[in-house]
Amino acid sequence: MKKIIAFNGSPRKTGNTQALLSSFLEGTLINSPDVKVYNTHEIQLEYCRGCLRCNILGKCSINGDDWGKLSEEIIDADILVFASPVYFHHVTASMKKLIDRFRSFIHVQITETGLIHTPRHEWKKEFVLLLSMGSSDISDARPIIELFQFMTGILGKSNNLYILEATRLAVVQQINKTAEELETLYAKMNIPTRLGSGDSKKNAEILKQCSSLGKKLSVC
Ligand SMILES: Cc1cc2nc3c(=O)[nH]c(=O)nc-3n(C[C@H](O)[C@H](O)[C@H](O)COP(=O)(O)O)c2cc1C
Repeated sequence: MKKIIAFNGSPRKTGNTQALLSSFLEGTLINSPDVKVYNTHEIQLEYCRGCLRCNILGKCSINGDDWGKLSEEIIDADILVFASPVYFHHVTASMKKLIDRFRSFIHVQITETGLIHTPRHEWKKEFVLLLSMGSSDISDARPIIELFQFMTGILGKSNNLYILEATRLAVVQQINKTAEELETLYAKMNIPTRLGSGDSKKNAEILKQCSSLGKKLSVC
């Protein structure tokens, strides 16, 4: 069984992001001790202090929060799942707080022309990015995708990144609403009601894709 660590970056515990993540985990052995799920709003994490001592120590210098345990679980994992709503074209602040602590997994050398990033562990992991957004236009998530392409690359050349994006979702659990429920909601939100039927199929399809990806990655 592959070891999976999943992070939900939404403050809404039963929101659209949770639905994407649950579908992904449905395809895996969710109750196995090899699957760990955290909400980034609940883990006790300090902000990266920018001391850069990790460059010398080879690990984060902050003690007394959850990073010590979490970083070991992350190093040990085969699959890392980052599920987040899009907030102002980025992940949520609590998810970014977690990502900044990943700096301690890399040695950085300044050169005349830029930075050389050397991963401390040469990871060969599957990174999964599940995004939920209000916009109908996936370009709102572009900065997040660029961040993850960069991050997975500097953490090891053999890492893989899988991305699934769910669009036009504003209210809690909208992703699970029927065509009729969406039409009623859209009328209130001043969104063309004719979109309801197609959106309920699109939402069901993205949840199916999450589940298939979970199944595929956890068995291969
Ligand atoms: C502070 C804030 C900023 C947001 N910014 C964006 C945005 O830039 N682009 C977008 O498409 N949706 C944006 N949204 C909408 C959420 O991404 C969307 O409703 C998402 O489905 C919420 O997921 P959740 O139910 O898991 O919390 C924003 C929502 C909030 C609360």
